[in-house]
Amino acid sequence: MAGRLQDKVAIVTGAGQGIGAAIARAYAAEGAQVVVAELRPETGRAVAAQIGGLFVATDVTVQADVEGCAAATQERFGRIDILVNNAGANVFHRPHEMPRSEWARCMALDLEACWAMTEAVLPAMRAQGAGAVVNIASCHGFQIIPHTFPYPVAKHGLIGMTRALGIEYAAEGIRVNAIAPGYVDTEIAQAYWAGFDDPAAERRKAERLHPPGRIGRPEEVAMTAVFLGSDEAPFVNAETIVIDGGRSALFHD
Ligand SMILES: NC(=O)c1ccc[n+]([C@@H]2O[C@H](COP(=O)([O-])OP(=O)(O)OC[C@H]3O[C@@H](n4cnc5c(N)ncnc54)[C@H](O)[C@@H]3O)[C@@H](O)[C@H]2O)c1
Repeated sequence: MAGRLQDKVAIVTGAGQGIGAAIARAYAAEGAQVVVAELRPETGRAVAAQIGGLFVATDVTVQADVEGCAAATQERFGRIDILVNNAGANVFHRPHEMPRSEWARCMALDLEACWAMTEAVLPAMRAQGAGAVVNIASCHGFQIIPHTFPYPVAKHGLIGMTRALGIEYAAEGIRVNAIAPGYVDTEIAQAYWAGFDDPAAERRKAERLHPPGRIGRPEEVAMTAVFLGSDEAPFVNAETIVIDGGRSALFHD
């Protein structure tokens, strides 16, 4: 089935690589006009060129960039139907060893920027009486892995924000949902494993944690992002869909 996002205009943040790039590609394949809102011009431009999208250099933690991205989208396409808040980074520490600046960096990118981007697209969505926001949260939004502070605090917050904004704007036709992936095979995960003495062993450990015996693929997150952004999910709101092969349902084996 193609054309599930036909004529929709979507902004995908952090779409230069990983999950964001997979979402941008899937959205374009389903007929959406995609704005690649990415910090790194080289990767952002490349993805936009591949999919015939619009690259807008955007640091989602900078308010002027956030507003500029929404304005550039409006100027080019005249509407904003979908926002995917995907840009994020692992900020992992033992709490008592963490410099306070790391708390601020994590909250700015993994939580506050998602609100800033949403705030910037709300006027268009409210005027249209329709819109969908898809927040890329994480299993860290429900469960805790030691020594990864304060990333799970931000992702718990993002799921809370999804519910709060979903309720707030439901009557105006705007849906706000989230996706909580488990391990997904992207640069962010590879960089995490690279921090261990034996990265390959760490990867195998992550694979074994998931009942299917593997970790997720960016395209698998993208398929759910297509569903949530599309008209196939008109009554799905303020919800978080977990994509982890069943890992979070497992007590132990
Ligand atoms: N990979 C996983 O295992 C995993 C699991 C759960 C959740 N997530 C979440 O999925 C999202 C994407 O993760 P990924 O694995 O694709 O990461 P990634 O590091 O591969 O890609 C992140 C992208 O965001 C961009 N970015 C970073 N800071 C930015 C900023 N300030 N403004 C704009 N763009 C910025 C980067 O340049 C990069 O292109 C993140 O929110 C992450 O927390 C990832």
